[in-house]
Amino acid sequence: MIEKNFPLKKILDIFSAHSRKGDLEELERQGYINKSKRFRSGAIVKKGWGIESLPQIGEHIGFFPRFSQPVAVSVFTTKGGVLKSTLALNLARVAALHNVKTCVVGLDIQGDITTALGFENDIEDSEDLHSILDRLNNTKGLADLFNGQTRLGDVIQPTDLDRLFLIPETPELVAMNDSLGNIHRREFWIKEKIVEKLKKDFDLVIMDCSPNWNQLTTNALVGCDVLISPLECKINNFRNFKVFRHFLNEFKEEMKMSFKTIFVPTRFSVNRKLSLEIRSWYENNVEGCTQCGLRESVLGEEATALYSSVLEHVPGKVPAKEMKNLLQEIHSIVQENIDQKNRGDFYSINGYSPVGNGDPVFGREFR
Ligand SMILES: Nc1ncnc2c1ncn2[C@@H]1O[C@H](COP(=O)(O)OP(=O)(O)O)[C@@H](O)[C@H]1O
Ligand SMILES: [Mg+2]
Repeated sequence: MIEKNFPLKKILDIFSAHSRKGDLEELERQGYINKSKRFRSGAIVKKGWGIESLPQIGEHIGFFPRFSQPVAVSVFTTKGGVLKSTLALNLARVAALHNVKTCVVGLDIQGDITTALGFENDIEDSEDLHSILDRLNNTKGLADLFNGQTRLGDVIQPTDLDRLFLIPETPELVAMNDSLGNIHRREFWIKEKIVEKLKKDFDLVIMDCSPNWNQLTTNALVGCDVLISPLECKINNFRNFKVFRHFLNEFKEEMKMSFKTIFVPTRFSVNRKLSLEIRSWYENNVEGCTQCGLRESVLGEEATALYSSVLEHVPGKVPAKEMKNLLQEIHSIVQENIDQKNRGDFYSINGYSPVGNGDPVFGREFR
């Protein structure tokens, strides 16, 4: 794996608008963070830290502290290419860079989040086809767990960040999705067998969904505390959104779910009037819509292609600042939601516990 070093200026850009060079040096002197190192960047030698030191730095000067209790987030809407996986990737990497122990659960057979987390990119060119296939075939996923062929600990894979883990998508997810339909309490499998267990060991669980209502998706919704749902700022998404919101509300009501929904405007073009109008319509008319959004951006696309968050890739540039503001906004909404629930403001909803008789608790199929 390529060594990743971050010069001091870049680190300040990633984590903080307030900290200065002197603050980092003070933390270093007091032993709160690792000693800096010197490395060559082009023709010059710079002072900085390796990627392994970023979580301790992030924890001290960053903007994304650990939530007061473990949180499960799902990223879902019924449209593809609207930055679901990009949001999941950026949230996951930025959280992990703040020392928030994070596990991503890939639930889309397309496997974009598994690819974006670099799961298959360390296959050496020199490795022969047989050993590559062996390795890929031996990768265990949720489906193996579902079939009782492995344990949870064996499907959790490390990534290039010490604090970030992944349950990768495997081809058998398709069959598992079908099989889920045949079990009792079929909407609760991921919540009970995965999320609740992961929450004992992780601060943050992120489920990246496909754009379809299927068993994996309904499981992800039932298992989450917070749903993040991108709102693409394009005219053809308008109708899609209204249908989606209606369906989502019905689902929440029938399943008696109380997860918080955060809508995020994505892919707006700053020089297109219609796109900006759509964004402001969302802002003014959609309850739970964030003020921050993500614009159409080649740098954003590049970051994902390089297995990176946009903050690591181009800190200080507009798309990175936008992502930082958005993640900060999401953080405060989530923490506020936890606080409210704990204060008992939503006592009646919070006190709800799913019916335990094994029968489906709603009449309608959400496939
Ligand atoms: N800010 C951005 N603007 C435009 N495209 C982006 C941006 N960030 C990422 N992308 C790219 O857009 C494509 C679709 O995004 P993705 O997150 O995979 O969508 P989804 O998961 O909703 O299908 C990906 O190739 C991704 O790399
Ligand atoms: Mg995706």
